[in-house]
Amino acid sequence: MSQLAQPTLGRAPVALAPTQPLTLRINGENRTLNVAPWTTLLDALREYLDLTGTKKGCDHGQCGACTVLVNGKRINSCLSLAVMQESEDITTIEGIGTAEELHPLQQAFIDHDAFQCGYCTPGQICSAVALLKEGRGKTEAEVRDLMSGNLCRCGAYTNILSAVMEVVNAQKA
Ligand code: FES
Ligand code: FES
Repeated sequence: MSQLAQPTLGRAPVALAPTQPLTLRINGENRTLNVAPWTTLLDALREYLDLTGTKKGCDHGQCGACTVLVNGKRINSCLSLAVMQESEDITTIEGIGTAEELHPLQQAFIDHDAFQCGYCTPGQICSAVALLKEGRGKTEAEVRDLMSGNLCRCGAYTNILSAVMEVVNAQKA
């Protein structure tokens, strides 16, 4: 049943935002939330579920900071409505590796100093995880091309490429 969220800013009632219950499967766990139907997956993650590892850069599909995996494929979560992902298998950066056992890409990013401010890093790593799963990106040129949707304002591209290639090459061996 639809519910009404009632923001109470100021004295006059503002427009009521209809919300609906939604269950998302995130990092292997079912999470239920009430959101307006126009809520993006990115806002659902960050604002409703406190999964702030996924970053908001442009909010328009241009920077890749919000990259998450849906059924193993990368998407820009700012371009997807949360309601579209019900019953899909969503993985965010919080579901990739742990502090005790980093994913090889996370370790490689540290080893190669592949970040400066780190804002783009979760998106870069999610994108690279999917790239490896896709079995593509065997050469530097291919990795550059296939990760071209993930921008880094700090210009850490050379080190990001080195980190990803280390894992790509380790998988070939
Ligand atoms: S925040 Fe989604 S692509 Fe920039
Ligand atoms: S490390 Fe700062 S944006 Fe990439």
